[in-house]
Amino acid sequence: MATLKNVRIAFLGAGNMAEAMIAGLLREGLTQADHIRITDLVPERRDFMAQTYQVGIAESNTQAVASSDVVILAVKPQGMGELLAEVQTAAAHQPLFISIAAGITVSFLEKTLPAQARVIRCMPNTPALIGAGMTAICAGHAATAQDLILAENILAATGQVVRVEEAQMDAVTAVSGSGPAYAFYLMEAMIDAAERMGLDPELARTLVKQTVSGAAALAHAPDAADPSELRQRVTSKGGTTAAAIAAMDAENVRDHLITAILAAQERARELAAELER
Ligand SMILES: NC(=O)c1ccc[n+]([C@@H]2O[C@H](COP(=O)([O-])OP(=O)(O)OC[C@H]3O[C@@H](n4cnc5c(N)ncnc54)[C@H](OP(=O)(O)O)[C@@H]3O)[C@@H](O)[C@H]2O)c1
Repeated sequence: MATLKNVRIAFLGAGNMAEAMIAGLLREGLTQADHIRITDLVPERRDFMAQTYQVGIAESNTQAVASSDVVILAVKPQGMGELLAEVQTAAAHQPLFISIAAGITVSFLEKTLPAQARVIRCMPNTPALIGAGMTAICAGHAATAQDLILAENILAATGQVVRVEEAQMDAVTAVSGSGPAYAFYLMEAMIDAAERMGLDPELARTLVKQTVSGAAALAHAPDAADPSELRQRVTSKGGTTAAAIAAMDAENVRDHLITAILAAQERARELAAELER
């Protein structure tokens, strides 16, 4: 991907998400290790990243920013205000800032960074750790079309990327950001049921993990039918699946799930407002 050639990338915070992105970028050959620099508060973490991926360790956050074209902000949301204030003066050359922190808004980034800072806000999810992530991105006011493409290329190293409006970010957070947990919750319930029916725990896990990943792969296959159609196809009248779906419908499981996801959206709104204060 030509757009990443010679682009110097700094990761401020080298935790799980930064590692997923770095591993993906190198695995896909999108950039070279000597184009990447990291910072982290934990010396052991810095050493681990340098040894594992041969990336450079910057002396400080400011040095990392001053010597990079793209700065990935990969610390926890609570630490972002302090970090941005720290690096502000090192950003006079206007690198592109890409934030992956949940709830950190474009306006927060823009008001804390120098005027006309080019910022992109992202919402990734944990399957990024194995290159199967879903990331939504939106651009700040000064970010260019080229910046969006660059951000997409970087984030594509961890999975699929979509562009959204910032107003959609809380909904995206509720659906794909928190989404993996809903799938795990379903898996937990299926494993509990399997064990209650007398299957041993190992067999229960094998059946459930393969079934859920198989169903996801089927829904994701080229030209796959809609999930609702796929469900109807396995639900024969009077059959076992129909009995399960009828039991779920009797308990309004679908409505409860929708209510739960709306609660996640509401919490995303609240958290963003708290971080803004
Ligand atoms: N994990 C997810 O599922 C997920 C999903 C979507 C978005 N995100 C976002 O991704 C971001 C990173 O998450 P993560 O799971 O990778 O977190 P993490 O593993 O805790 O990584 C953050 C790293 O940054 C370090 N750090 C903190 N403040 C720093 C500073 N001022 N300068 C340099 N390094 C600093 C932390 O050190 P200490 O441990 O010493 O603080 C930690 O090693 C978060 O903002 C989160 O909202 C995560």
